[in-house]
Amino acid sequence: MNTKRKKLYEGKAKILYEGPEPGTLIQYFKDDATAFNAQKKATLEGKGVINNRISEFVMSRLNGIGVTNHFIKRLNLREQLIREVEIIPLEVVCRNVVAGSLATRLGQAEGTPLPRSIIEFYYKKDELNDPMVTEEHITAFNWATTPEIDDILATTQRVNDYLCGLFNGVGITLVDFKIEFGRVWEGDFSRVILADEISPDSCRLWDSTTGEKLDKDRFRRDMGNVIESYAEVARRLGIMKDMPTVIQGGLH
Ligand code: TMP
Repeated sequence: MNTKRKKLYEGKAKILYEGPEPGTLIQYFKDDATAFNAQKKATLEGKGVINNRISEFVMSRLNGIGVTNHFIKRLNLREQLIREVEIIPLEVVCRNVVAGSLATRLGQAEGTPLPRSIIEFYYKKDELNDPMVTEEHITAFNWATTPEIDDILATTQRVNDYLCGLFNGVGITLVDFKIEFGRVWEGDFSRVILADEISPDSCRLWDSTTGEKLDKDRFRRDMGNVIESYAEVARRLGIMKDMPTVIQGGLH
């Protein structure tokens, strides 16, 4: 790792460094895992490497179908070059099947398919535990404008449709996922693009046949085999065919 470059931001699972050109950043994937707003923490050796690859794969595919996003190219095992965006402080969650906080909050059985996908917004603010918000809060506090929210909703639906098909094709049900968006400026005009990451840290992925969880719930719920499950997702997507050897050899 180049130690001279400037660290701009360190989050729970990733670090952002300044990029080689203006308007670019380097996104570094750490092995750190947190849950329940960082009350639970661990280092899962190899997680960053796998998530870098899975996010590269998914973001590239999305770029290919016209879902513009921040991904430019993967640089090495843990880093990717991305476009700098002005992050919109929202976590956009899309759900196809009842799970997690939806199950708890509304007392619905986990695993119940939803009649249509549901999109929810959460205000990205650790100190407040990322509270759920409505479009009215978002516009009242100027986190995003109404046209930006419309773009976010339409893009989230497209991402959901595409990813449901992609994962379904490899025997995985996309239960839900969280994405983030950022603004890019072109002269006086800004536009909203998909940013952050898409990986088993930010999705619920269940084996379509057995229902086995292949995502971060294995960590949240102390189910074990977290890295093995992330590697299984990568393997099914046809990436990191050499994964078992790489894990044994250590991922640095
Ligand atoms: P939830 O059921 O806990 O609200 O999570 C919904 C989806 O969002 C799930 O796929 C996990 C993902 N998620 C994150 O990526 N980051 C978070 O901080 C939380 C709470 C959920």
